[in-house]
Amino acid sequence: MSKRKGLLLDQQGTVSAALHDLELPEWEFLTLTTLDAARRALSGKVPLVGLVVFDSARDWPVRELEALIARHPIEWIAILGRGLMRDTQLAPLVARNFHDFHTLPLDRERLLITLGHAHGKALITRAASGTAQECGRFGMTGNSPRMLELYRQIEKIVTVDAPVLIGGESGSGKELVARAIHSHSERARGPFIAMNCGAIPPNLIQSELFGHERGAFSGAHQRKIGNIEAANDGVLFLDEIGDLPLDLQANLLRFLQERTIVRVGSTERVRVNVRVIAATHVDLNRAVAEGRFREDLYYRLNVVHLKVPALRERPGDIPPLADGIFAEHSHQKAPQVKGFSSEALRAMQEYAWPGNVRELTNRIQQAMIMSENRLITVADLGLPIGEGAADARTLDEARATVEKEIIVSNLRKYRNNVSEVARQLGVSRVTLYRMIDRLNIVL
Ligand SMILES: Nc1ncnc2c1ncn2[C@@H]1O[C@H](COP(=O)(O)OP(=O)(O)OP(=O)(O)O)[C@@H](O)[C@H]1O
Ligand SMILES: [Mg+2]
Repeated sequence: MSKRKGLLLDQQGTVSAALHDLELPEWEFLTLTTLDAARRALSGKVPLVGLVVFDSARDWPVRELEALIARHPIEWIAILGRGLMRDTQLAPLVARNFHDFHTLPLDRERLLITLGHAHGKALITRAASGTAQECGRFGMTGNSPRMLELYRQIEKIVTVDAPVLIGGESGSGKELVARAIHSHSERARGPFIAMNCGAIPPNLIQSELFGHERGAFSGAHQRKIGNIEAANDGVLFLDEIGDLPLDLQANLLRFLQERTIVRVGSTERVRVNVRVIAATHVDLNRAVAEGRFREDLYYRLNVVHLKVPALRERPGDIPPLADGIFAEHSHQKAPQVKGFSSEALRAMQEYAWPGNVRELTNRIQQAMIMSENRLITVADLGLPIGEGAADARTLDEARATVEKEIIVSNLRKYRNNVSEVARQLGVSRVTLYRMIDRLNIVL
């Protein structure tokens, strides 16, 4: 039977020797004495379980240890020297970051159970985050009916070479869809050139699209290849196509009909083989009706039409999206942040998301950096918040809200002196620590 592997951070070697004597046949530990060595070891294959030995409360630099713990999907167990569980600095550190703790001297049976739990927990955590990544297709996250419909459409589109027009609100993933079409089509080995028609000054768009010869206009010091030519054999993605000035709409139409371009300042026709994918967040039909967009160009571009659903139309995709964003940005977060509270997940699914996935990403990133909680709250995300206890759904929720308010305000008043706060509130310190942990309060 292959052994379960664990990491043991043990400066003095106290536990390393004891573990050896205990003879745990299922387990094999790599012992390291510094955080630097641990960081190096964890750049390779990451074990499921890690033990950190505290011979004294100040053994390890707190920030660095928390950063190491936050960075890896490992369940950590603290091994504490005698009496250390009562240390007012060490206890919250352990409560925040560790799956469980064990006090010295080691008890073989208890240790085996703790290790087994941690191992199982790490396995299901990794399996769950693996599913989050698989929840979707074409590099996109989401298995909602609307997204499944979009994947089916993309599947058909990648086998043909027709122009595509992608509609959808801002931040909904139009560029992501365009990139997916490119990378799953026969043009994948060719370039993907993206150009935002709304972001380029109108007098420069022509040369951006078609290129220019040296001396074509003042300032044209050398020949420049335009985006259409640069996208040869690949895809040209024209974002905000509705912002393309009318005269250039005529030029683009000509290119789509003839498949040739003429650089500014030249007379030579150059053949170019490009698939055009355009995107718009405005209703082009209306732009056509109002004379701001050429009808003939609209029909040319709109051979295939895709609509990316707004995030509010697919709230079920929000939890896997949120998990994916959390995992992607986990190198940039406050060390104690471990995930989302269930209220936060609920609020995210009830919010209307005018800025769609981009807004979701921004709010989560901000909350991961700024939150002072273990689980990101509704307030951390800046989402509409209820009226505290009055808004609670059950008595338990109301009680938790009130308890949290009182404990937090007392901790502030007595500068995090847990013994004093426990005395003021008439509970034991152990009870107070348990409440602090349960109510997700950070000291
Ligand atoms: N289904 C999805 N799964 C994962 N990430 C997504 C999804 N949709 C969008 N995103 C992410 O959201 C962000 C915005 O997407 P994108 O730039 O494609 O949107 P857009 O519709 O082009 O926005 P805009 O209209 O503002 O140009 C990107 O970071 C993208 O990776
Ligand atoms: Mg875009």
